[in-house]
Amino acid sequence: MNNRFKRFLFCISITAILMIPADIAGQDRPVGTLIKAGRMIDTVSGRVLKNRMILIEDGMIKAVGSKITVTDGIRVIDLSDSTVLPGLIDCHTHITGQSADNRRLRNPWIDNSVIAHIYPMRTLKAGFTSVRSLGEGSFAGISLMRAIDSGIIEGPRIQAAGYYIGATGSHGDRVGGSPWETTNRPPEMSGIADGVDEVRKKVRYLVKHGARVIKFGASAGVLSGEDSVSAPQYTQEEMNAIVDEAHMWERRVAAHAHGSEAIKMAVKAGVDSIEHGSLIDDEGIAMMKRAGTYLVADVYVSDYILTEYARFGASEKILAKERLVGRAQRENFKKAHKAGVKIAFGSDAGVYPHGLNARQFPFMVKWGMTPMQAIQAATVNAADLMHWSDKIGSIEKGKYADIIAVKEDPLKNVKALEKVSFVMKSGKVFKE
Ligand code: ARG
Repeated sequence: MNNRFKRFLFCISITAILMIPADIAGQDRPVGTLIKAGRMIDTVSGRVLKNRMILIEDGMIKAVGSKITVTDGIRVIDLSDSTVLPGLIDCHTHITGQSADNRRLRNPWIDNSVIAHIYPMRTLKAGFTSVRSLGEGSFAGISLMRAIDSGIIEGPRIQAAGYYIGATGSHGDRVGGSPWETTNRPPEMSGIADGVDEVRKKVRYLVKHGARVIKFGASAGVLSGEDSVSAPQYTQEEMNAIVDEAHMWERRVAAHAHGSEAIKMAVKAGVDSIEHGSLIDDEGIAMMKRAGTYLVADVYVSDYILTEYARFGASEKILAKERLVGRAQRENFKKAHKAGVKIAFGSDAGVYPHGLNARQFPFMVKWGMTPMQAIQAATVNAADLMHWSDKIGSIEKGKYADIIAVKEDPLKNVKALEKVSFVMKSGKVFKE
């Protein structure tokens, strides 16, 4: 036998060995994973259960109980010194970028798409196993969502909106820039739509290209050039058309709304969530309660904007708008929660750095929630808003094994959620 032929035979035999299924080769894969939880937060009942065992197979929760027999080959993860809870859910992020980085990019939409994949992992490692991404200014969020779904890259489960649907001159229209800059983008690469026909078509277009949730601008905003922060930016007919069309395609609708009038118009149109809700009045609170509309209020981010954004080049006009809504938003959040409006967690991460999503918990507690209610807002409630209650939001048989743990008791000190020590998504461990 010459050397070449020997090498060929060697390669063939190695390939053959590699092709033997692992169990025949005597290297049994674990038949499942068992988590021993010292304390487990039952987000459905709002209670803490001691010494729970969670059995995981094929990425799903197979059983939860006080006694589960450990069979051979099972992998045991001992979290008996920790509090275990379902993976957290952030209903308001912009997953493809963050302001601190954007200002260093030359051509934000394209450069952003190239670096966007770094943010989902930061989010996941912070304990957020699912997010909504409410407007990415490109299709990059939808691409990330697909790449994660197909297992090509790792990150939280995503419901991405793609483009924010907004009227000409609205919060979504980069007001204040040069007309060359704003009108140079082809309409297919923007969320700008005016009139009932155009908004309906925009919803169809976004759904066609993969949007899993629809986001539109009901009112003006802070981080954009228009003078008002609260004025409505669509007519009632346009809002009705967006919601009607989106629901027809079985997509939930999130409305950006700071102003009291715009909030009421959006609720009337039948949106599923009001984002920000800063200047909501008593009538708006009563309407949301009656309709069961979720409030997703980013009650931390104001601190970040007021301390960091001058450095990022934000104008005095923008900072003044933030001062106008920041504190009022927190007071109204407290009022709305007290009145019984449903609350889901949403941080606006992207406006501040991804991975710091949990910074919002202490603010939710300071402004009226118990730590348990804040955790429920980021688990069962968020899952309900996303229409994924059958998959996520609690540690129950049949749900995805999206499980996190913290060392300190988050019910005593909710800041513990900023230091997640263990993260599992679909049964795979990302932090231990
Ligand atoms: N994207 C939002 C806007 O520009 C951010 C608002 C943040 N401020 C706040 N108080 N929640 O309107």
